[in-house]
Formats: sequence, structure tokens, C-alpha cells
Amino acid sequence: MSEKPRSDALIFFGATGDLAYKKIFPALQSLVRRGRLDVPIVGVAKSGWNLDQFIERARASVTEHGGLDPVAFPRLVSLLRYVDGDYADPDTFTRLREAMGGACRPAHYLAIPPSMFPLVVDHLAAAGCAENGRVIVEKPFGRDLASAKSLNATLRNAFPESSIFRIDHYLGKEAVQNILYFRFANAFLEPVWNRHYVENVQITMAESFGVTGRGKFYEETGVIRDVMQNHLLQIVSYLTMEAPSSTYSEAIRDEQAKVLRTVRPMSPEQVVRGQFRGYRDEPGVAPDSQVPTYAVLQLFVDSWRWQGVPFYVRAGKALAANCTEVTVELKNPPQVVFNEAPPKMGNVVRFRLSPEVTIAIGARVKRHGEEMVGEHHELSLTEEPAQGAGGRMDAYERLLGDAMMGESTLFARQDVVEAAWEIVEPVLHLPGPVYEYEPGTWGPVEADRLVAEVGGWNIPK
Ligand code: BG6
Repeated sequence: MSEKPRSDALIFFGATGDLAYKKIFPALQSLVRRGRLDVPIVGVAKSGWNLDQFIERARASVTEHGGLDPVAFPRLVSLLRYVDGDYADPDTFTRLREAMGGACRPAHYLAIPPSMFPLVVDHLAAAGCAENGRVIVEKPFGRDLASAKSLNATLRNAFPESSIFRIDHYLGKEAVQNILYFRFANAFLEPVWNRHYVENVQITMAESFGVTGRGKFYEETGVIRDVMQNHLLQIVSYLTMEAPSSTYSEAIRDEQAKVLRTVRPMSPEQVVRGQFRGYRDEPGVAPDSQVPTYAVLQLFVDSWRWQGVPFYVRAGKALAANCTEVTVELKNPPQVVFNEAPPKMGNVVRFRLSPEVTIAIGARVKRHGEEMVGEHHELSLTEEPAQGAGGRMDAYERLLGDAMMGESTLFARQDVVEAAWEIVEPVLHLPGPVYEYEPGTWGPVEADRLVAEVGGWNIPK
């Protein structure tokens, strides 16, 4: 892999916002702690703040999210600068240029609503801040295919594709990368990882909480745009793609794009949507909102390898558990040797992605006794290192560090984003029912009909 030039400043827009508070400051502190960040970090926002207030915000953020590191935090503070100003005012960008000092390869992180991208990108270009720069943007990348294309055109006015880093923080998670690693670093999976052996694949992203003050945002997104078009389809691509042809840096993303293009665009009978009771009482939510907080999608990957294998992808807020899990279930062997009923669960590969990280293989084992009957057991393959110093990296730390080094494998490439929009686009505006479900359940019972043909859901452990 060729060495790319490192960014020599990190500029982040939306520096006083929620994302900065919850994710970015803690990630920056960790990057500093690991010696991966030692360049000026310039926060930009319009809050009427000065640098001291900005530093206080950083202090509160790391204290609340992971803890203040007495060595790394003062080093982080020494790198922080702050520019307060309106994104519509050219003077903000003149002052930004000054705050960047001698930096000539800045990375601009747009932690702001996409509606502001054109304004900020145009001003960056006009002030000479985009030259040799990189741009990092948050998901969702567009609201549909057309807006994703137009958003991309905006960014491409000032940055080439190789300098655009579209964040999907699921790609920064160790557990998600391990799907790819586990598939292609082991020989025993490949012979069975196809339509001849796999019965069905289920992906569940369950969140036990609701929209927690993000009602306004959620009204504009809903569950399909919020986590399915991006996070969960990225997981589908890692589960289904062919082996990357080489270590060529684009090989993984090439395969992701290829496989997502073979996923059949959805039709109405392949989706069931729900909304938890109480969602409409959230601040910012319309009293008659039809926005889904739950959905299950039945997907088919029309490739040589996967033809006919159903993939069930479900996600929801206010569900019975807080976890993300993938199960790849193999077909049962012929039931002719032992006189027992076909098991609900035969051989399965289970990837637990959160909150704990597990890879497990499930198999039937004979129960002790005279009869030839068995039970399900699991061989668990992972041990999880603690997060933090020397341990597991948070997704944002990994991704910001990678973007600063110009390493783009873990970012969503435009053709991958577009292929994912093409899959979900037909069901984004469905007039059909959005079923109400009780918070703390597994969603509307109507969703069960989709999985009935494979014997129902594998309830995450
Ligand atoms: C975000 C969504 O992208 O991912 C949220 O906007 C969701 O609605 C979150 O809660 C889940 O991320 P994680 O890392 O907690 O699984």
C-alpha cells in the first residue's frame, strides 16, 4: 500500500454540536494518547464562544465519555484552536485560514447538516482551504439516490473522490471488520458460504431506547435511512462479497459495490414497518407521523453465490434488547439417520457485533444418554479486549485517524452509497401501513410473516 501524505491540520465544523461532544472529542483524546495526532485541531461553529469555552466543552466531553486522560488531555488542549463565525460569512473562512497557520494539507470534517455542505465547501474553496485538502462527511449521505448524487457533486466541486471520506461508523467497528477477516482468513467457511449450504441470514440491530431527543432528525430520516441503507447494508456487503482480488487499496470497496449491485431492489411485500407507541409524543415529532422506527427487509442477493437465499435485515428503536447480531444459518442435513424432530437451530455462524463482540459457531451435539438425540451448543471464538489505551479502538478514533492518513478503505465510496440507495429507494415512500408496537417488545407481530418460511426469528441471546 503506497504511503499517502498525512493531513497537517484537522478542521471540524459543528464543533460545539452533539456529535462533537459525544464522539469527536473522546476520539481526538484517544488519537493523541496513541501518538496518532499531533497537528493543529481547529473547531469551527457559531456559538459566540471563545477558545476557553471550547476547551471546557472538550473537558466535559471526555470526562463524560470514557474519562479524562491526565497526560493526553493537556496535549490535546495544546493543539486546539477555535473559530467562531457564521458559515455564510467569508470572514469566518479568512480567520480559519489564519488559525490553520502554515498547514497546507488540511482535513475538513463536516459534522454539520448536509444542507450546509454547499455553503461550507464553496467558502473553503474560495478561501484556498480546500487545496490539497480532504473532506470527511457524516452519514446519512443524502436522503435518496438523487440527493446523494447531488451532494456528491457539491463535494466534487472542491475535492476529488480520493479526498472524500464518507463516514459510516459501522465500518470503523472492530466487530464489523472481523466479519470480513473471519470469512477470508479461514478455509473452512468458504465451501459452505453459499446458496448450497446457507438456509438464511438474519441481521438484527435492536436498540432498547427510543429517539432520545432526536425527534426532529428522526422525522426526516426514519429507520431505513438512519441505519439500514448504510450500516446494515455495509454489513450485508461484507457477508456476501467475493474475496477481494488483492491488497490493492480499492479491492474491498470494489467487491462491496459489485455485490450490492446484485441485491434485488426492494418491493413492498419485502418490507414490514413499525412505529413504537409513544414516538408521536416525542419533541419534534408530528402527532400523526408515519415515520417508521422499526423495519424488517427481506433481501435477495441475485448473485451466483447467493441466489435464492433470503436475508432478513431488521432494525428498530424501543425494542426488547440492545444488541446487534448476525446469524448465518446452514441447511439441516437430511433427517434420516436419527429419529428426532428437525431442530429449530442447526449449524449457525453467529457474529455478535454489540454490545459484546463474539463470533460463535453453533452445532448439534448428542445429549448424554441412550437415545440418539442432540442439543444445540456453541463454540465461542472471541475474547474482547477492553476499550481504551492499548485496547480496542472506538470507531470514530479509527476512522478519523485513517482519514488523516488518507486511508479510505473503511469509508463508503460513492458507488457503494448509490448502490445501497438503489436497493431501498423503492420502499422509502411506501403509502402502506406502519404498524404500532409496544416499546420493549420485538416490534410488530406483522413482521413475523416475512420470516415464517424459515421458521421465525433467531432471537439474539
Ligand atoms: C447512528 C444512528 O448512525 O447509529 C443512530 O443515527 C443509532 O440512530 C446509532 O442509534 C447506533 O450506533 P451504535 O454504534 O451505537 O450501534
